[in-house]
Amino acid sequence: MEKGTFPIDRFQQMQTPFYYYDIPLLNQTLQTLQDQLRAHPDYHLHYAVKANANPAILRHIQEAGFGADCVSGGEIQAALDAGFSPQSIVFAGVGKADWEIQLALRAQIHSFNVESIPELEVINQLAVEMQQTANVSLRINPDVGAHTHHNITTGRAENKFGIAMDRMKDTIRQALAMSNVRFVGLHFHIGSQILQMDDFVALAQRINELQDRLEQAGIRDIRHINVGGGLGIDYTDPNGHPIPTFGDYFQTYATHLRLRPGQQLHFELGRAVVGQMGTLITRCLYVKPTATRQFAIVDAGMTDLIRPALYDAYHRIENITSSEPEETYDVVGPICESSDVFVRDHRMNRTQRGDLIAIRSAGAYGEIMASRYNLRRLPGSYTSDEI
Ligand code: LLP
Repeated sequence: MEKGTFPIDRFQQMQTPFYYYDIPLLNQTLQTLQDQLRAHPDYHLHYAVKANANPAILRHIQEAGFGADCVSGGEIQAALDAGFSPQSIVFAGVGKADWEIQLALRAQIHSFNVESIPELEVINQLAVEMQQTANVSLRINPDVGAHTHHNITTGRAENKFGIAMDRMKDTIRQALAMSNVRFVGLHFHIGSQILQMDDFVALAQRINELQDRLEQAGIRDIRHINVGGGLGIDYTDPNGHPIPTFGDYFQTYATHLRLRPGQQLHFELGRAVVGQMGTLITRCLYVKPTATRQFAIVDAGMTDLIRPALYDAYHRIENITSSEPEETYDVVGPICESSDVFVRDHRMNRTQRGDLIAIRSAGAYGEIMASRYNLRRLPGSYTSDEI
C-alpha cells in the first residue's frame, strides 16, 4: 500500500506533534455527500460536531450546507460561532444540564433529541419559564446490535441511551400532553464505525415495525425520523478508500426504510465526514531496542490520540521521511502508561531519531479527545490551506 502524500519540507520546520487536515479531501468528501443527497431531497445531514470541532473544519462543513448534531452547550456554541443556522442544529445527550437546555431554547434550535421522561419534563418546565416551545424528538433504544467495538455500540437494551421501544407509546402521549414541547420526531443511533450495511438494514426494519405499531395506536404525523450516524471508514487502507461509501449507505435506507408521505429523514454522520482527512504528524524521539522488541518512541502519545489506547483501534502508521527497508517496531508514545501504544509489531521503513511519522485516519475523535494528562501541551492543528 502506498504512503500518503504530505508537504514534508514544511512539516520538517514545524513543532510536532500536530494534526494536519487535508482540505481538498474534506471538500471532495462534502461534494460526494452533496451529490449523493441530491437524489434524496427528503434527507438531511447534521454533521456530528463531537467528531471534530476544529473551527476551520466546522466552517467548511457549514459552507457545504449541512447542519450540526451537538451533544453539549459547548458544541451548540461552536456550531453557532461557525455559522450553522440554529434551525439546522439538533441537540442530543443523556444528561443535558439546565444551562445547555436554556442555551438551545434561546437559540431556537431545530430539535432536542430527548432520552428520558425526566428530561422531557425539565425541558418543558424551562420552556414554560422562557415562554418558548421546544421541538422534541424522542430517542428510542431499538435494541439493535452493531458489529463494532463494545465501547461504541449504543443501541442495545443494556446501554444508557434512549427510551425502550415498549415505553414509546406512553412517552409520546406524555410529550403530547405537555404545554411547551412539540413532539416532532423519533431519533435512533446504534453505534459507530459500522461497515456492515446489514446493521443499518436491521435498524430500518425496527423503525418500520415501530411506525406500524404507533399508527395502530393512533399516533401519526411524525414529521422527522433521525437515524443517527455510525457509518465507518477504512482505517487499513485510507489511500484506497479516502471517501466512504455514502451511496450504499443512503441507498440502504432508501430501500429498507418505509418513510411516510412528507416524512423527513435525518442523519448525524461524524467519522465518515472527517475521519480520512486528518493525520497526526509526530516525530521519532528515540529508537530503543530491547531483548525482544524494538520500540519507536514518538513525541505524540495517547494524550494526542487516545483511540488505540481506549478502543484498541487500528490506525495506519507510516514513516514518511524514510524509504529504508522495513523493520518491525512497536510505535509508542512518551506517556507514563503502559497502554500508551499506537501499534505493536508494525512493519515500517527503518526509523531513526528525527523521522516524521504519520498516523493516518485521525480526523475523527482525534484532536477533540486530546487531553493534558502529564501536563503535556495540546497538539497543534493546521489545515492544508495554512501551510
Ligand atoms: N449521533 C449520536 C447520537 C452519536 O452518539 C454519535 C456518536 C454520532 C451521531 C456520530 O457517530 P459517527 O457517525 O461518528 O460514528 N470516540 C469514539 C466514537 C464515539 C461515538 C459516539 N457517538 C471513537 O473514537 O471511535
